[in-house]
Amino acid sequence: MKVAVFSTEPYDRKFLDAANHRANAGHEFIYFDTRLEPESASLVDGCQAICAFVNDDLGSETLKILADQGVQFIALRCTGFNNVDLSTTAELGIKVSRVTVYSPYSVAEFVIAMIQMLNRKLYKAYNRTRDDNFSLNGLMGFDLHGRTVGIIGTGKIGVILAQVMHGFGCHLLGYDPYPNPKFGEVGDARYVELPELLANSDIISLHCPLTDDNHHLINQNTIAQMKPGVMLINTSRGKLVDTKAVINGIKSGQIGHLGIDVYEQESEIFFKDLSDTIIQDDTFQLLQSFPNVVVTSHQGFFTEDAMNGISTTTVTNITDFEQGNPLKNEVKPPERVTVSV
Ligand code: NAI
Repeated sequence: MKVAVFSTEPYDRKFLDAANHRANAGHEFIYFDTRLEPESASLVDGCQAICAFVNDDLGSETLKILADQGVQFIALRCTGFNNVDLSTTAELGIKVSRVTVYSPYSVAEFVIAMIQMLNRKLYKAYNRTRDDNFSLNGLMGFDLHGRTVGIIGTGKIGVILAQVMHGFGCHLLGYDPYPNPKFGEVGDARYVELPELLANSDIISLHCPLTDDNHHLINQNTIAQMKPGVMLINTSRGKLVDTKAVINGIKSGQIGHLGIDVYEQESEIFFKDLSDTIIQDDTFQLLQSFPNVVVTSHQGFFTEDAMNGISTTTVTNITDFEQGNPLKNEVKPPERVTVSV
């Protein structure tokens, strides 16, 4: 099948080509580094399918252009589908698939790296010693042992994070509207209501999808309920967090450390080399200026294992559509979850 693949980097091409070859699937991938949006949608010329990533715009305007060009299938090479207008795909008869599961270890392990980087200030230490500055002033951290970690969203990634944090000797609190029995099996993990989690956690990590109901789940009100000096980690979706409220929380000291791998306006910034440009997003620039904030550009998933999993499933999804097989990873319109890679 001829597939227009958007938002690609050399690593996407390498892994997709390898998966296509391994499966002997014979798909013809037409790679574009540009993001999919109404302005670029006509590039699909002659393709029956497209393959898109987290920050591609699959709103109704783009979808109508794709449908006019004969596109019948969208293979998302990510878990989340918040960027797809599913009522329009249903109207237009376009099928959508996603990668429901790929290494959840990739993100959970990344969170551990972020927690310890912030806690032990490794980003400062690395630069200091390279500059022959061997002073320890300002580098003091805290033992994770005995601290309480609050996990919001206890699905695949949240449970693995709980297991690892249990290994560090942490206490575990979870909040999830759909409790997962696996979470309760880890150490002293227990479910609590959100206010209790906020009030008692030294570290709070977000692992829920973005839905219609939890936009700005972390806001001025919820930040005020947190322990002073809390560490907040967001590797889920940028829009779960009200960035301006978080900035106020950092300025007042209520938030002691912030690690984000996702950002509300990331589609304008992430996955690009902007080192020679003047970034116009003042909120983002302010966030970057704080000494207790670490920002990474949506790289939680980015391991060889995860890329292999994503590419293999994406190729299988395209083959299933091509051969008229049942689409086991289909995203159906009634599913209401609006965001998750
Ligand atoms: P999952 O579907 O296994 O688990 C999500 C959990 O969140 C479920 O237990 C669900 O009941 C819960 N949930 C739903 N709404 C909630 C709410 N309002 N409050 C609290 N919990 C809620 O998903 P998985 O694989 O663990 O991924 C979690 C999120 O991580 C994804 O939705 C995605 O946004 C993000 N992600 C980020 C990546 C990155 O590279 N930074 C890569 C992969 C996923």
